[in-house]
Amino acid sequence: MTSFDRSIKIAPSILSADFADFGREIQAIEAQGADWVHVDVMDGHFVPNLTFGPPLCQAIRPHIKTVMDVHLMISPVDTYIDAFADAGADVITAHLEAGPHIHRTLQAIRGAGCKAGLAINPGTGIDGIEYLLDQLDLICVMTVNPGFGGQKFIHSQIDKVRALRALIGDRPIHIEIDGGITPETAPLMAAAGADVLVAGSAVFKGGSVNNPAPYGENIRAIRCAAEAAR
Ligand code: DX5
Ligand code: ZN
Repeated sequence: MTSFDRSIKIAPSILSADFADFGREIQAIEAQGADWVHVDVMDGHFVPNLTFGPPLCQAIRPHIKTVMDVHLMISPVDTYIDAFADAGADVITAHLEAGPHIHRTLQAIRGAGCKAGLAINPGTGIDGIEYLLDQLDLICVMTVNPGFGGQKFIHSQIDKVRALRALIGDRPIHIEIDGGITPETAPLMAAAGADVLVAGSAVFKGGSVNNPAPYGENIRAIRCAAEAAR
């Protein structure tokens, strides 16, 4: 049995990509060192913004050679799980705050053949997670309030990640952090125990599909800072 992979993984959010050119944007970030591709699904109800749904996920799937990490900021969740699984998601993450029966939601995600992720908003504690640990492959700690890219990192979430890391112990569960991640904030979270670092604006800034080198420099800067802090 191979040991669980707790190495630092950089997951660029395509929320900061050129929406008219997702295929080439994904190829560019993967060629520049992205480990996962993070897809932010918003419904204009659970969060005050709208993005995309299963057909877009299906359309970009052939371009993703790494891991398709689908972050659902939607409520309700359960009615859409099969559609995102059929669209090719590897990881489906639902919010603890999105409904009263998160245990059932996580079971349904695994039942659809995907890894199950649980996201928690900045205002949510970790008390509700203990009895979900056996249903989980990933916990996503939101380091901004979900809904928009380019927001400021919320420092109070560092202690939350540290407490979560202790709660997880040896279980094979990733800790993902999402929002405001830069070469300055990534090391704080890597030191606290995070291994999957989502970054949108900090990865895409300065580059484009025709000039992808800055994507690589940005990914390397976040990764180096995070690895040095461990
Ligand atoms: C926020 C999304 C994040 C966001 C990250 O609702 O879940 O994935 O796009 O963007 P940055 O890195 O710009 O904060
Ligand atoms: Zn996200």
